[in-house]
Amino acid sequence: MINEKMEKAFNRQINAETYSAYLYWSMSAALEYMNLPGFANWMQVQAQEEMTHAVKFFRHIMERGGRVALTAIDGPPTGWKDVEDVFKNIQKHEEHVTSLINDLMDLALTEKDHAAVMFLQWFVTEQVEEEYMVHEILGKLKVAGTASAALYMLDREMAQRVFVPPTTAQKVQG
Ligand code: FEO
Repeated sequence: MINEKMEKAFNRQINAETYSAYLYWSMSAALEYMNLPGFANWMQVQAQEEMTHAVKFFRHIMERGGRVALTAIDGPPTGWKDVEDVFKNIQKHEEHVTSLINDLMDLALTEKDHAAVMFLQWFVTEQVEEEYMVHEILGKLKVAGTASAALYMLDREMAQRVFVPPTTAQKVQG
């Protein structure tokens, strides 16, 4: 059974992951207004992934006999200068999420909660991937600069991203 400290911390993380989805939806809208539908699509997929992260924490609490307590989600910002500004903000945001995951791992280790340690390992790897993905896109945006043809090509590339649901995230016990 999950202890109270871990339960509280995981409930806070449900909120943080759902906030991430809110943030990326807000960015998706902003990018569509910038006439970048491919980037807007990329951000929609990112938001969907964040919701699966929230569901993973939800399931972990439930499957270990804890209580899920959902709390209000803050409103995300709405204004960004351009697409590079959006991705610089994502970079900052994901670095923050990485620090949250690291704090959860520290707590799980202190509490000797081995199940939580195993569970959180997926998130440690995921954060490395997410930070790298954003770093890569920022690099491409720097190369594209203000050249509209390059940005147009990049937008078409971003349109290719599709949502692939993780197999365990949506599991609901019958
Ligand atoms: Fe759920 Fe982008 O970390």
